[in-house]
Parts: sequence; C-alpha cells; structure tokens
Amino acid sequence: ETMRSFLKALPKCEHHVHLEGTLEPELLFSLAKRNNITLPDHFPKSKAELTERYNNFSDLQDFLNFYYIGCAVLLSEDDFFDLAWSYFERVAVNDGLAHSEAFFDPQSHTERGIDISVVIKGFKRACVKAEKELGISTKLIMCLLRHLPNEHGLQTIDQAKEFIVNGDIHALGLDSAEKPFPPELFAECYAKVKELNPEINLTAHGGEEGDHTYVSNSLDLLKTTRVDHGVNSVQSEELLKRLSEERVLLSVCPMSNIKLQVFQNIHEIPLNTFLEFDVPFSLNSDDPAYFGGYILDNYVAVHENFGFKLPVWEKIVKNSIHGSWCHQERKDEML
Ligand code: HPA
Ligand code: ZN
Repeated sequence: ETMRSFLKALPKCEHHVHLEGTLEPELLFSLAKRNNITLPDHFPKSKAELTERYNNFSDLQDFLNFYYIGCAVLLSEDDFFDLAWSYFERVAVNDGLAHSEAFFDPQSHTERGIDISVVIKGFKRACVKAEKELGISTKLIMCLLRHLPNEHGLQTIDQAKEFIVNGDIHALGLDSAEKPFPPELFAECYAKVKELNPEINLTAHGGEEGDHTYVSNSLDLLKTTRVDHGVNSVQSEELLKRLSEERVLLSVCPMSNIKLQVFQNIHEIPLNTFLEFDVPFSLNSDDPAYFGGYILDNYVAVHENFGFKLPVWEKIVKNSIHGSWCHQERKDEML
C-alpha cells in the first residue's frame, strides 16, 4: 500500500492507451441500451460474464474481436466525450497521471457511418475539460487500422485533414492486427500526414507480435520517432543500440502483454535488457477496461515483479517525461 502511494505520487506520463480500450463493461452495456444497439448473439450478457471473458484472451486477434464490438456502441459526440472524460477523470484522480497521449481509431467508427468530426470533437472536448479541471496535459494520436488497406488510410487522412492541420490531432499511429501487415504498407499514409503538417509526431505499434524488423522498419520507412510495444526489439542487439542512441521511446504495456499472452509472466518482459542497453521506455495500460488495470496498476505490477529501487524508478519517470510530445515548459513542470 505504501508502494502504491509512492508510485501514485510519481509524475507519470501515459503514451499508450486506446480511448476505445477504456470502455468499461458497465459503460458498454449502458451505451448499447441508450443507443439501441443489438450486441451479437454470442456476446456475454452480463457485466460479470463479460469481465470473465476478458480474462481469457488467447491472443491479440481474440481481443480485437471484442474491442471492435465494443466500439460499435459509440455513436454520438457525447458518447465519445463521456468515454474519454471518464478515463481522464479516473487516471487523474486515482492514478496520479500527469500527462496522457491517447490513441483513437477513427476507422472503427467511420466504417459504421459516423462522421470523423463527431469522433474528434467529442474526444477533443474531453481533452480540453481535463486540462482545465483535472490539471493534466493531453494529446490525441489518430491511429490507422493496419488490417484495412492503405487507400482507406489515405481516405481517413483526407477526412481528418482540418484536425491534422490545426493540431487537434497531435500525432499519427498504427494499430490493430500486426503480423501480416508490416509497416511499409503504410509509408504513403505517413508521408501524407507529414506533408499536411510537418510538425506532427509519428509512432506505430510494432514488435508486439511482429519481430524486430517491424520496429526498425517503422523507424526507417514510416519515420516514426517512437514505437508502441517494441518488446521484440530484444531480438536484435544492433536495434537495441540504435534505440538507445537515437533516444527512441518504447511504450511498453505490461498487463496487456500478459493478457494477450505475448509473455506468460511480467518478469519475462525485457525491462532489464532495456535498462542495460539504456533504451528509453514508458509503462502504459494499452486497453485498461479489457486488461484489468489502469496505468498505476501497471506500475504496481512491474514493481512487484522487478522490485526496482528508487534510482530505476526515477530513470523510468524521467525517460517518460523526456519522451513525451509536450512543450519543454510542461516537461519542466513535471520533472
Ligand atoms: N495492439 C494492436 N492494436 C490494438 C491494441 C494493441 O495492443 N489495442 C487496441 N488496438
Ligand atoms: Zn496498443
């Protein structure tokens, strides 16, 4: 308990959380009802049954199938606002979060006929309110779904153009099923976004189920300056040295890695190798409503399994702040 309060008090930054992945079973069922959405026949009927099913994902795809059904209960701008606001409020109050860079998946909504501006305006309104009332800083990262074709990504970028240009979308990311969809498929999308706004930041999921080349190719071919998950980077010593030299942050998600069976135990996650090679990483929740823990639970789980001493926690927290995409003044406040 004292360890939890110590970890809560650290100025934590979250770089890897999918807003759609913060949809708690309770909100899922209540939005389904409010919006008259019929859930599939095979979908668990109660909160308890659903939570139990969430405890037994066999892999990334098994989880994604549930995640996209969950997305389908979100319709109105208020739905998107409510979702993001409940996440921001929860982590600011319960977890001591200082800064949140949150992903969203517009294609999982536009595919269902929802206008992209409905999604972005709802999320943005929650960001503004969180900054004002909770004192945290926030950024939105638009992700493209890699199981959809490049052309669909380009269309999405075109639909989101005004928000890419005005900076409401602070960065571009890439998520969903990794393995048969290597980063190079989306090089055109990444180049297009950078052309629309040269200031935009770039990241991509890689090295979660894909091998180390998914990490290096994200850097080389998409020009990302961060990689999400990236745990399979340990397969290449050359890559580890590069990540350290170029200060590329990996957004590691410990509880997600266990729930999706990337590793069987938290202590198998290569945090000690990253520390040894001085590869910067942050600790994150990924899809907290699905994986049973928010950011502080992830910090606690790492502490219980690695027993890091104070200097290591200081290093992790400092690397997380330095690797954040906020102004230097905001970093100085957190440091
Ligand atoms: N990996 C890939 N796609 C995702 C994830 C993830 O962890 N969460 C939501 N979409
Ligand atoms: Zn993720």
